[in-house]
Amino acid sequence: MTTANSSPGGVVVLGATGSVGGELVRRLLMQGRPVLAAGRNRSALAALAAECDVPTVEVDAADLATIDAAVQAAAQRFGSVAGVANCIGSLLLRPAHTTSDAQWQETLQVNLGSAFAAVRAAAKAMRTHGGAIALVSSAAAQIGLPSHEAIAAAKAGVEGLVRSAAATYANRGIRVNAVAPGLVKSHMTEPLWQNETAAANSAQMHALGRLGEPAEVAAALAWLLDPATSWVTGQVLAVDGGLSSIIPRPSSRPG
Ligand SMILES: NC(=O)c1ccc[n+]([C@@H]2O[C@H](COP(=O)([O-])OP(=O)(O)OC[C@H]3O[C@@H](n4cnc5c(N)ncnc54)[C@H](OP(=O)(O)O)[C@@H]3O)[C@@H](O)[C@H]2O)c1
Repeated sequence: MTTANSSPGGVVVLGATGSVGGELVRRLLMQGRPVLAAGRNRSALAALAAECDVPTVEVDAADLATIDAAVQAAAQRFGSVAGVANCIGSLLLRPAHTTSDAQWQETLQVNLGSAFAAVRAAAKAMRTHGGAIALVSSAAAQIGLPSHEAIAAAKAGVEGLVRSAAATYANRGIRVNAVAPGLVKSHMTEPLWQNETAAANSAQMHALGRLGEPAEVAAALAWLLDPATSWVTGQVLAVDGGLSSIIPRPSSRPG
């Protein structure tokens, strides 16, 4: 068996039409890695293909078989799969008592279901040669943020999935890790950061005093997918400006 360190092959980016996913595609291509970009939005996929000259495939988390099919397509196209990143996700900001069954189920399906399908498909594709799987959790899985019940539960599930799959597949040379972002200026959070007051309040909760950029999360994902991190598995890397672990200094206190 070769290890993740030496495995050739392509990288599948699920959710490639999103802010983080798109940045990850660009970064991996710059690194010279063969990429298959998988997304739901057909016109956004076409735009990405035109911009980056990257092959694309449609996936929808509502039908997990499409995620299996995307990973199989990468194996056929590139000969093998060296990496799978799941950047599919959604954000439901609602307290539990106003969350409907449909909203709860959709939050679980999009965030945890897609991650599970990514792991399942990657494990099948990588079982003979190893590889790296990178998922996306959230700072909300670690710290209690109000009105995040459904998404916090789904992302906490992603973190449990990371550790169990890392244990299961370590002997196959398959590494499983995640990044856990704070508030990042992406499509899904646009209403939050477009509002000046809301953005300033959120920035204050991050010790580094600002919101994150999609490229900063993509950089961490690319690092976890890189053969250079061949001894890193079962980890959740906070990429959150300190949100989950640091109490920001009160701004009125002299430095
Ligand atoms: N932004 C933040 O502050 C933040 C914080 C913590 C965690 N995260 C996580 O970071 C990851 C990347 O999100 P982002 O910030 O880049 O937001 P984004 O730009 O909104 O990207 C989310 C992606 O998920 C895709 N998606 C949603 N539902 C889908 C479905 N049913 N099937 C297939 N694709 C679907 C979207 O596709 P469409 O374009 O078709 O909608 C989009 O490509 C997500 O896992 C998110 O939960 C983000």
